[in-house]
Amino acid sequence: MRALVVSGHPHLEGSNANAAILDELRAVLPGTTIHRLDTAPTSPEGRTRFNVPAEQALLDEADAVVLATPLYWYSWSGLMKQWVEEVWADGWAFRSGSAAGCALDGKPAVLSLTVGETQAFYTPAGSEPHSVEEYLCPVYRTLEGVGLRLLDTVISYGASLLPPAGTAERTAYDRALRDSARRIATLVTGVAS
Ligand SMILES: Cc1cc2nc3c(=O)[nH]c(=O)nc-3n(C[C@H](O)[C@H](O)[C@H](O)COP(=O)(O)O)c2cc1C
Repeated sequence: MRALVVSGHPHLEGSNANAAILDELRAVLPGTTIHRLDTAPTSPEGRTRFNVPAEQALLDEADAVVLATPLYWYSWSGLMKQWVEEVWADGWAFRSGSAAGCALDGKPAVLSLTVGETQAFYTPAGSEPHSVEEYLCPVYRTLEGVGLRLLDTVISYGASLLPPAGTAERTAYDRALRDSARRIATLVTGVAS
């Protein structure tokens, strides 16, 4: 089973949550390709330049795709959105509005999301009137539009509220990130058996 993990974090060196999830995925899914979008070449102006045929080939070869991104402004990162816009191109990911028979049609996928605030924050009793899943409507429609078979969304909350190192809260936080990675691995390996 070949899983492709696409990391949409714009600067993984500065990441805690996404980096921890990817590290654990490397450990529990050996041989998995972790594909960092933040290391793609850039133009002199600093704009990321994806090699679209190479990106499409990576997706073609994968049995399952994990899209790993922080929640930025209620959506996936700008870098991941750019990648989706350019790589999931007309004629490859869809034709005349239909994904039938196209490259991603029926391919299993998992969305891994790190969210700055807590889950309680995203309830009417908290500060947000909608759940994270409700804010993700355009993302879900995009995945559906190219025919990806979404197995689940794995959300790691509280990523902006990193507890101090050495505390029990930090131990629990780190464990929750590892649990997210293991849940992703279980989903991905489940489709292969
Ligand atoms: C530009 C930007 C936008 C963000 N928007 C949201 C948001 O809409 N909701 C939220 O809960 N957190 C938001 N955050 C917090 C990120 O989700 C959080 O920093 C990230 O998940 C942490 O992951 P990392 O440790 O891998 O960087 C935002 C952060 C940045 C930098």
